[in-house]
Amino acid sequence: MNQLQEATTYLQNKLSNSPTIGLILGSGLGMLADEIQNPTKIKYQEIPGFPVSTVEGHAGQLVVGELQGVDVIAMQGRFHYYEGYGLDAVTFPVRVMKELGIEKLLVTNAAGGVNRNLEPGDLMLITDHINNTGQNPLIGKNVDEHGVRFPDMSTAYDRELQAIARKVAKQLSFSLKEGVYVWNTGPSYETPAEIKMLDILGGDAVGMSTVPEVTVARQAGIRCVGISCISNMAAGILDQPLTHDEVIETTEKVRESFLQFVKQLIEDIG
Ligand code: 6GU
Repeated sequence: MNQLQEATTYLQNKLSNSPTIGLILGSGLGMLADEIQNPTKIKYQEIPGFPVSTVEGHAGQLVVGELQGVDVIAMQGRFHYYEGYGLDAVTFPVRVMKELGIEKLLVTNAAGGVNRNLEPGDLMLITDHINNTGQNPLIGKNVDEHGVRFPDMSTAYDRELQAIARKVAKQLSFSLKEGVYVWNTGPSYETPAEIKMLDILGGDAVGMSTVPEVTVARQAGIRCVGISCISNMAAGILDQPLTHDEVIETTEKVRESFLQFVKQLIEDIG
């Protein structure tokens, strides 16, 4: 058996329901998984083939159960490229979730605001992305079972799911921003010159995740919807240094509205 089959079989033996929506919860946004009813929690380290965390305090788990009556599988914590994982490891959980039967993927992240119309605390519906890294998780011999060699990325973020997100925001009188997410590897934040460049190139927010997972999900035919929590403004926009503490503080502040919006979104796309 290969690693993907091993991980899938291991999880299937632990689970009684089959999830239809996968959730990837970004930095500071993991509390959504605490809302899952009748949860089965499986630590990443016990799943065969899952990347092994070498960094302390960066453990994560899958939480499988029901959210708003929808069978979901949530990643509480993700693997980042800047931690030193290869992109095959970063995206392995997406392939496992595909094998478990998910058809849709909700990705969340904390991101820096590049567009001056954004402010910290905003939620931004991701309408498209820019891979600014030169890396791609699909580089290498194509595994035909995973999908085609040259996947279409023209609707990386599903139009119908975007429309549902807008409708949910309207119903909740919630101001949902929209924009293009740029993936940089990190772990250093950008310079002001780099942020100016990303702005000119059409980026609205910048972060260190999401694009590898969405790329693999699209190859697998999974429909994606993405939400960025704007945790801070990117370098050079405000005259202040960036810290990871600010990222976490902002996600704590938006906690209630994030939960309310995303839970309704899951119900409506589920
Ligand atoms: Cl400003 N840049 C990147 N690359 N990631 C971030 C960020 C900025 N703010 C939160 N995450």
